[in-house]
Amino acid sequence: MKQRSFYIIVLLFCTLIVCNSFVDDNPWFSITKKDVELKVPKGFPKPVYTFKNNPLNPETFVLGRKLFYDPLLSSDSSVSCAGCHQRIAAFGHIDHQLSHGINGLIGKRNVPALQNLIWKDALMWDGGVNNLEVQPINPITNPLEMNESLTNVILKLKRNKEYTSLFKKAFKDTVINSERLLKALTQFTGLMISANSRYDKYMRKQDTLSKTELNGLKLFRGKCATCHREPLFTDNSYRNNGILPDTSLRDTGRGAITGEAKDNNSFKVPGLRNIEMTYPYMHDGRFRNLKLVLDHYSKGVYYKGYDVNLNLSKGLTEKEKTEIISFLKTLTDKEFLYDRRFADPNMK
Ligand code: HEC
Ligand code: HEC
Repeated sequence: MKQRSFYIIVLLFCTLIVCNSFVDDNPWFSITKKDVELKVPKGFPKPVYTFKNNPLNPETFVLGRKLFYDPLLSSDSSVSCAGCHQRIAAFGHIDHQLSHGINGLIGKRNVPALQNLIWKDALMWDGGVNNLEVQPINPITNPLEMNESLTNVILKLKRNKEYTSLFKKAFKDTVINSERLLKALTQFTGLMISANSRYDKYMRKQDTLSKTELNGLKLFRGKCATCHREPLFTDNSYRNNGILPDTSLRDTGRGAITGEAKDNNSFKVPGLRNIEMTYPYMHDGRFRNLKLVLDHYSKGVYYKGYDVNLNLSKGLTEKEKTEIISFLKTLTDKEFLYDRRFADPNMK
């Protein structure tokens, strides 16, 4: 009898070791061909960024993921992309009004969520960057963000054994250059696609919405959807939504890009997916919750030059505000927020 329990214990012990070795092989972090297939969700338009010159493959995605989570990209190795773009906030930054970069320096804008980027014809709150692939140059070289040069990042990567191996796996030769760095980051950020919220399932007739949520959807379609157009919840235009300009930041938005006064105080219409998770709101993070956003829209008094589509002169009742907010919360996409492909690979 004693001998039998001894064998059972040994067997259990061996099972544990075998299981552990599987953990080391990390199925959680492994990326397969299927994981990097680009599937355009039903009802979504054609993507603007197509990966045509940057063919998706697991090894390049894995390199992009490693880079995204690596503070090595900043001049003193203190700030990574993920430091500002938090996974749990749909890659925005919960609770920070303005971004925080190197040496505790405060940036000029609220960190936007990163999702459905391949459908954007231009990036940033003012559309100042028009190609997803070159976008990372901006944070890497921005003195308030990562304050580094591309040349120096490449030098650091070339000196790093893990990266020389990852680049080789991704591109099948030993060349490490900025084009490849940018392509890898783009494979990672470009695949951040959110299309499985309860709203999406409702649209695909796989789920139902409550009466309050449906009332909210109806109100939303009547009052908000000209700018926040479904299914991406943006029409990719620049608009003045009537918030008072911030006198300390003096951010004129689109006007600074086009040089035209009529574009002053216009910002790119943000997509509203996962909006529940991406507080605070607006380009300068001035509103800490959705109630304050709805209070703004329903005031009926807006800063000059506001967009004619802001047709809310009658305001919204408290009930209507609650209904719109409960609809907005149906845009939370847990499958995206918890998608293991985008998790920090340094996590054990
Ligand atoms: C210090 C904080 C910070 C860091 C670090 C940072 N970002 Fe950002 N990111 C921002 C802010 C703020 C914006 C909005 C900038 C603007 O509108 O001018 C932004 C915008 C973006 C956008 C455009 C999103 C959109 O919808 O227009 C992408 C893509 C992006 N960042 C990716 C990255 C990548 C990749 C890295 C790492 C190489 C990175 N970011 C590092 C704060 C940061
Ligand atoms: C005229 C176009 C327009 C209309 C109509 C409009 N919005 Fe907006 N919305 C914008 C713009 C532009 C911004 C970004 C403004 C900024 O950051 O300065 C924005 C920002 C937001 C934000 C913050 C998003 C973020 O990521 O910070 C929310 C939430 C929002 N709108 C919800 C609504 C709701 C709800 C309605 C209807 C009651 C509505 N909007 C109507 C143009 C519009």
